Amino acid sequence: MENPTKFFFFKGIPFLHTCYDMEYIQRLRDEFKLQDEDVIIVTYPKSGTHWMIQILSLIYSKGDPTWVKSVPYWKRSPWIEIKNRMEMANNRTDSGLFTSHLPVHLFPKSYFTSKAKILYLARNPRDILVSLYHFKNYIPCYPLYSTFEHFFEDFLQGKVLYGSWFDHIKGWLPMRNSEKFLFLTYEELLQNPKVSVEKICQFLGKELNEEKINSVVENSSFPVMKNHILETKEPMPVENMETSRIMLMRKGICGDWKNHFTVTQMETFNKLYQEKMKGMDQDLFPWDQC
Ligand code: A3P
Repeated sequence: MENPTKFFFFKGIPFLHTCYDMEYIQRLRDEFKLQDEDVIIVTYPKSGTHWMIQILSLIYSKGDPTWVKSVPYWKRSPWIEIKNRMEMANNRTDSGLFTSHLPVHLFPKSYFTSKAKILYLARNPRDILVSLYHFKNYIPCYPLYSTFEHFFEDFLQGKVLYGSWFDHIKGWLPMRNSEKFLFLTYEELLQNPKVSVEKICQFLGKELNEEKINSVVENSSFPVMKNHILETKEPMPVENMETSRIMLMRKGICGDWKNHFTVTQMETFNKLYQEKMKGMDQDLFPWDQC
């Protein structure tokens, strides 16, 4: 980490002072009360979070795009851990939709005693690394890096916002046997969005006919979403993040890491991946299938 002072650490996880508050994150775990009908999108950053918000919003509005066109994503599904959001969340959004990047050990305890559901979206960590590398410059006060190589090293060591990708996914994966937890990947979503949308509907107990499902898929496609995000007039929820809009919808593909990693970096990453993910069911991770 070339400029570590911008982060504060809470229970081993780096957060930024600009968007997060230590005391607030501390309170969140005990005080945030999820309700049985709530649905929380949980992701490691840059896994396709906004895409999932779009899909869920459209499912909730039965394929009608009016809501996603008129209300920005952070109001439709607020991040529970971002400063000043908990009060808002406890006042309830109408939808009961929430978003979070928190690792399991910092997540509100009320989830585990309620019937609230989690939809966990995972993505190839190599593509996440590249996506975050491009996005970080648009996050206010994110540490500066002079080279991709330095960022690559910090990502591998978990010295990035929200910590290690490996710890995040390994922390959450044991939940996948629970009926209130759905594990999905960015790659399967990209490969067959309709099947994924149907799977999500089934998980949420929402019945949408063919026409509505098609509308969900169409209105959550990369070009349509890009237009929505760029055309939204409301200012971004965090100060000085206005320019990040364009980077939220950068390329939207699988495998862009191949355009960034050197052969040595690929080998280093693969070696660490094998070590860290040893014993995990590799069929869950279709990173190379698209
Ligand atoms: P890239 O930077 O690789 O293009 P998050 O929402 O978690 O910040 O994730 C952002 C990533 O999801 C970006 O990846 C973005 O392009 C991609 N993304 C967003 N909407 C998408 C869509 N409809 N289809 C495919 N990828 C999408």
